[in-house]
Amino acid sequence: MATVKVKASKNGPYVIEIESGKFEIERDLNVEIVEKKSIALCRCGQSGNKPFCDGTHRKVGFNADEVMVKISM
Ligand code: FES
Repeated sequence: MATVKVKASKNGPYVIEIESGKFEIERDLNVEIVEKKSIALCRCGQSGNKPFCDGTHRKVGFNADEVMVKISM
């Protein structure tokens, strides 16, 4: 069984963590393989590199609660 952890970080991005494998990100009809165990996806809507967080949330003063979700597949 695979587990995916999704953390909506306080005032920041969604952090997606996997135990093994890699991420396959489809963006503008292109597929990117990201060989990391975690990625940060923009939650504030202001990133210049969507779907990834580029840190802009700090500049714009994004404010949101932390939420943790664990998904087993
Ligand atoms: S959450 Fe970081 S740039 Fe949007």
